[in-house]
Amino acid sequence: MSPLSALWAALRVYAAGAAVILEQLLRRCRGGFPEPVFAPQPDRVAIVMGGTDGIGYSTARHLARLGMHVIIAGNNDSKAEEAVRELKEETLNVKVEFLYCDLASMASIWQFVQKFKMKKIPLHVLVNNAGVMMVPQRKTRDGFEEHFGLNYLGHFLLTNLLLDTLRESGSPGHNARVVTVSSATHYVAELNMDDLQSSACYSPHGAYAQSKRALVLFTYHLQGLLAAAGSHVTANVVDPGVVDTDLYRHLFWGTRLMKKLLGWLLFKTPDEGAQTSVYAAVTPELEGVGGRYLYNETEIRSLPITYDQKLQQQLWSKSCEMTGILDVTLRYPASG
Ligand SMILES: NC(=O)c1ccc[n+]([C@@H]2O[C@H](COP(=O)([O-])OP(=O)(O)OC[C@H]3O[C@@H](n4cnc5c(N)ncnc54)[C@H](OP(=O)(O)O)[C@@H]3O)[C@@H](O)[C@H]2O)c1
Ligand SMILES: *[C@@H]1O[C@H](CO)[C@@H](O)[C@H](O)[C@H]1NC(C)=O
Ligand SMILES: *[C@@H]1O[C@H](CO)[C@@H](O)[C@H](O)[C@H]1NC(C)=O
Repeated sequence: MSPLSALWAALRVYAAGAAVILEQLLRRCRGGFPEPVFAPQPDRVAIVMGGTDGIGYSTARHLARLGMHVIIAGNNDSKAEEAVRELKEETLNVKVEFLYCDLASMASIWQFVQKFKMKKIPLHVLVNNAGVMMVPQRKTRDGFEEHFGLNYLGHFLLTNLLLDTLRESGSPGHNARVVTVSSATHYVAELNMDDLQSSACYSPHGAYAQSKRALVLFTYHLQGLLAAAGSHVTANVVDPGVVDTDLYRHLFWGTRLMKKLLGWLLFKTPDEGAQTSVYAAVTPELEGVGGRYLYNETEIRSLPITYDQKLQQQLWSKSCEMTGILDVTLRYPASG
């Protein structure tokens, strides 16, 4: 990528953001984002990656209000302790806990899964929500570009390691659900199969958008594998809109200033931003339904190329190689 194409990537990301902001503004004028009401979900267990802040925190709170056992994961212990305390206080649900997971480290993801499995509890909902945006060029513990490694590969590995538990926990009429948080920036991304680590010329905008596109391809392929294996697990991908969170801390100061001054009008609140994730996690309308790109609680089309099964397969195989997991997880029926 040349410096000019880095600028082009940035402009496209801002254009995608502006389009979403305009649509949100129109919707706010037409009555806003009424909070959906869902039936209680007792005896269901959820993991919310990045449940310590922003959209993930709001998602965890909503699920905890519905009576679910909610495990939030993040990589800041002190922040998480505070989040758990607040969640318990606000929801009066004592089944809220924190498990440490640094998604930028494969070893940490393996440890997280091991600790979770030691609890011997089922898993009905996995929300792949954690993420960073437009960070300077740097690498994860395992040497991957941070957006690709953390936002995409981290969730890829995590989901694969939890698939057996998800498959054992889903049942006919009560599928387990994988909810993955992507973004409208996936529409303007370029997925460069020959340079997934953006090493040629780094654009933080391009790298973020690419990780979000990879998550869409991942979801569709996962859903295909789950369906072919006859699993009672579904996978959907959600687009939260443009939401007022700390995700924007690495952006150029002009954008941050605009967010500070006009965020209340142009951005969704974290609670509003979490609505689509919560919807995907619990609505009976999506029972047994997977492979959808959800925005504003409705299915919309993601970018046409994301439906390309050959590309999905190619990315999946590469991701298996990069994370060192065997591409066999779904070839055998789940035990139990
Ligand atoms: N905000 C928006 O406008 C917008 C738009 C489209 C899509 N999204 C997507 O929505 C998701 C949530 O974003 P947000 O806006 O709520 O951002 P946020 O407020 O910055 O929250 C990000 C969450 O990810 C966690 N996280 C970051 N690095 C991590 C790591 N190495 N290991 C584990 N967890 C890590 C953070 O936990 P710690 O604090 O513990 O690090 C935090 O809980 C992201 O996937 C983002 O791409 C957001
Ligand atoms: C952890 O979170 C606390 C409270 O939000 C913050 O002050 C601190 O800087 C964070 N630590 C790291 C390493 O990000
Ligand atoms: C958003 O959803 C509401 C109902 O849930 C619908 O009336 C509206 O048309 C949707 N807007 C878009 C842009 O899809």
